[in-house]
Amino acid sequence: GAASILTKLQRDCATPLPVLRHVADAMTADMRAGLQADGGSDLKMILSYVDALPTGNEKGLFYALDLGGTNFRVLRVQLGGKDERVIATEFEQVSIPQDLMFGTSEELFDFIASGLAKFALKEAGKFHLPKGRTRELGFTFSFPVKQTSIDSGILIKWTKGFAVSGTAGKDVVACLNEAMIRQGLNMRVSALVNDAVGTLAGAQYWDDDVMVAVILGTGTNACYVECVGAIPKLNSPPSTSAKTIVSTEWGAFSNGLPLSEFDREMDSESINPGEQIFEKTISGMYLGEIARRVLLRMAKDARLFGDSVPEKLQMPFSLRTPDICAIQQDSSKEFEHVGSILYDVAGENSNLSVRKIVIDVCDTIAKRGGRLAGAGIVGILQKMEEDSKGVVFGKRTVVAMDGGLYEHYPQYRKYLQDAVTELLGPDISKNIVIEHSKDGSGIGAALLAATNSMYPH
Ligand code: BG6
Ligand code: GLC
Repeated sequence: GAASILTKLQRDCATPLPVLRHVADAMTADMRAGLQADGGSDLKMILSYVDALPTGNEKGLFYALDLGGTNFRVLRVQLGGKDERVIATEFEQVSIPQDLMFGTSEELFDFIASGLAKFALKEAGKFHLPKGRTRELGFTFSFPVKQTSIDSGILIKWTKGFAVSGTAGKDVVACLNEAMIRQGLNMRVSALVNDAVGTLAGAQYWDDDVMVAVILGTGTNACYVECVGAIPKLNSPPSTSAKTIVSTEWGAFSNGLPLSEFDREMDSESINPGEQIFEKTISGMYLGEIARRVLLRMAKDARLFGDSVPEKLQMPFSLRTPDICAIQQDSSKEFEHVGSILYDVAGENSNLSVRKIVIDVCDTIAKRGGRLAGAGIVGILQKMEEDSKGVVFGKRTVVAMDGGLYEHYPQYRKYLQDAVTELLGPDISKNIVIEHSKDGSGIGAALLAATNSMYPH
């Protein structure tokens, strides 16, 4: 029956301390291997070319463009330097039409550049650009990019359900520049950054103790502050104490994860089978889909929704992560809200015991995701600690978090924090602050555009 499918799921997805410890240690080891050589591990350990973080002295008007998961955003930021910091910001958000995710590179970049052009036209009020200056842009592009400098980088591959043709292997800044020219827009990309890197820069601007940034949204990634001397693939002398940001692309991690048959099926039917396994286990694009597959099995093999198998439940991605999150927020006695969500998905009235099983399925998936994300964070922190004895664990260290999943899913957040505390123990974990950094990546990209401005300030 459904109960035994649930029990097996819980067993396959269990994350007791030894599993978490294995994941954290494997993450540390994979980081080292990826720093050793390109292709050395699942983790690409991408050099961001961000080696000067914002100081607070940045001044002037800068734009940012954020192409990430479900939306793309444009921002305008007026920076006032040391005392005034951020004087004003304005942003607009546009959801990316589904067909553009499967179209051509030109179509996607034209759409972005035209959104940016419309936004730039509305500049007024507190925003001010000295005469004759080119507008400068920080471009947050949240996909694996092989950076070639702070303002150029080649798309390695798409992730998160994007399958745009003609971009992989190309410099995404050149793609954007060409589209901006087609739109008659005169702007220059001063910094190309990953969303995790933008978040780290944005959060550090307000708090010097931020050393790590993690995105948990449609996809997932983490970056951190690394010593240049600890990156053998850079061929720099180990004595160099200069710092830089490394983007792990940890979504590709795969070592020792507790997976169920539902994960394996989802992966093999995905547009990128065998890739992004950590991402498929912990990030927002996939949690709802894993739960859907479990419920579908329960409908088929254990008649969870009566004699027929609900049609909508058979549609991939029809149950979304916000749905399973909403299911977990229902604290009413009869779980009426769960009932109405299930009615939408299954077209059937459900009784209390069905609702409880569904809640347990969602909880199992969210718990595994949150706890594994926590183990990943510990993997990064312990790598930094091993290299710097006491500088990470022995003092306040902040991990800046962003992304829709982290922001909107309280149970997931709690499971993540619990795992970090279990792994580090009370004494160390009291020094580790894991906190939401709202919209850091947009401002972070604008700040990095300022840091790398062609106009000295
Ligand atoms: C936002 C960040 O808050 O979260 C973006 O500013 C990041 O840079 C995004 O890409 C992830 O969002 P989503 O839509 O994947 O949850
Ligand atoms: C995916 C992308 C990565 C990005 C992350 C979060 O994993 O490959 O570059 O940072 O999603 O948006």
